Amino acid sequence: MKFMMIVANWKMNKSVHEAGQFIIDFKAAFEAKPNREMVICPNFLCIPMFKQEFSNSEINIGAQNCHSEAAGAFTGETSASMLKSAGCGYCIVGHSERRTLFNEKNDDVSKKIRAIQNEGLIPIACVGETEGERARGDTLGVIAEQVNAILEAHVPDKKLIIAYEPVWAIGTGKVATIADIHQVHRFIREKLIKRLGTVVGNSIVILYGGSVNPQNAKEIEGIVDVSGFLVGGASLKVSTLLDIY
Ligand code: PGA
Repeated sequence: MKFMMIVANWKMNKSVHEAGQFIIDFKAAFEAKPNREMVICPNFLCIPMFKQEFSNSEINIGAQNCHSEAAGAFTGETSASMLKSAGCGYCIVGHSERRTLFNEKNDDVSKKIRAIQNEGLIPIACVGETEGERARGDTLGVIAEQVNAILEAHVPDKKLIIAYEPVWAIGTGKVATIADIHQVHRFIREKLIKRLGTVVGNSIVILYGGSVNPQNAKEIEGIVDVSGFLVGGASLKVSTLLDIY
């Protein structure tokens, strides 16, 4: 059976109270399945509660962002070592909302990946083209640059996850075609194999994200290089998240 990792990206949603209710409902409904892994990335404030409620369980906890420095005068920021001490095992990095709304560049993404891996956390590094880049035929060029920046920072014996999320498919209800997802995932896989060798390159989890929901998940799961999903909107409800899982 194919391995699949489901990563819930809550973005800036849910108060601590709402997250607490989600946890109650989730625990009542969740049944672990073989070859499936679940990572939930709530906002920073909810991470300690997730740690407390899900220690010794199959649910892994991730953050949505971090700073590249370990500590210091960076008002409002949170470091990878802090995330580790709070119980995170994963950290999303380079999400398109960080790239477009917070001006994060490939270079920033590289620095964060180094910091995340240095702390022994697993980066979930996002790549994806905008609608304009796709229209200009630049999709693979953009993906290549983003993946190169990730691989420049990546320490080969540490774990890495890549998420392909076409920017125009995020939160829009538009999903890339099966052929497009297949093409980009294959392209990323071939780059990984070229840089890291066949065994390691084939072992890296590549997620698809962008309007994944219970209706389209099964078909996307059938694509050979898709080894999981990064789910935004549909991860906010226990029922839709578990239908995808
Ligand atoms: P979406 O978000 O599932 O709501 O499109 C995905 C993401 O941004 O990670």
